[in-house]
Amino acid sequence: MKKIAPSILSGNLLNLADEIKLIEEAEADLIHIDIMDGIFVPNITAGWDIVEAIKSLTDIPLDVHLMIDRPERYIEQFVKSGADILTVHFEGSVHLHRTVEKIRELEASPGVAINPGTPIDFLSEILNYIDLVLIMSVNPGFSGQDFIYSSLFKIEKMRKIIRRRELETLIEVDGGIKALNIADIANSGADIFVSGSGIFKTDNYLETINEMRERI
Ligand code: DX5
Ligand code: ZN
Repeated sequence: MKKIAPSILSGNLLNLADEIKLIEEAEADLIHIDIMDGIFVPNITAGWDIVEAIKSLTDIPLDVHLMIDRPERYIEQFVKSGADILTVHFEGSVHLHRTVEKIRELEASPGVAINPGTPIDFLSEILNYIDLVLIMSVNPGFSGQDFIYSSLFKIEKMRKIIRRRELETLIEVDGGIKALNIADIANSGADIFVSGSGIFKTDNYLETINEMRERI
């Protein structure tokens, strides 16, 4: 089952509750929350309080993407605040295996993300321990950037590895996804599609999400 994950902090921050209602009406599968620390990426968003606030408003599972340096320091706070999926960056955690195990112990679903410049082969050893691989299709830090097309090869390659190893690991893709390019990304083998401006910069989220589903 392919899933659509609107990146909520690309919505209207003054009306987050209304934005959540609208994507609930569109039956979004997950809510993607981008956490940025101003060190791992050149932008700052919010901490776990935002996760807790969103959790109190919705039953849609929360897909929390930590773009922070040494995420292991804050795993517990994010899980306790309501993260269902917690994704850390390969580039941000030296003891990645320990970090992932900690997420699992706390009963959230562990994911590992890689930047556009990181080869997917680097995930080879961690793959058996995680539920989700997040392939970044823009350099993390900002919404509204163009999709990097060479990401499609990384998705295809990852799909083959997962199939060969007979794993259930999901492939999530994040950055520059719009109704117009979502079919290419689906055909490459992605399972979860994160979209920020591709949804929240359109007039009708329901129509946009429906169109995305059709194209997938
Ligand atoms: C990028 C974030 C993305 C971003 C996606 O650093 O991780 O989740 O919000 O936004 P769009 O879809 O506009 O590229
Ligand atoms: Zn993200």
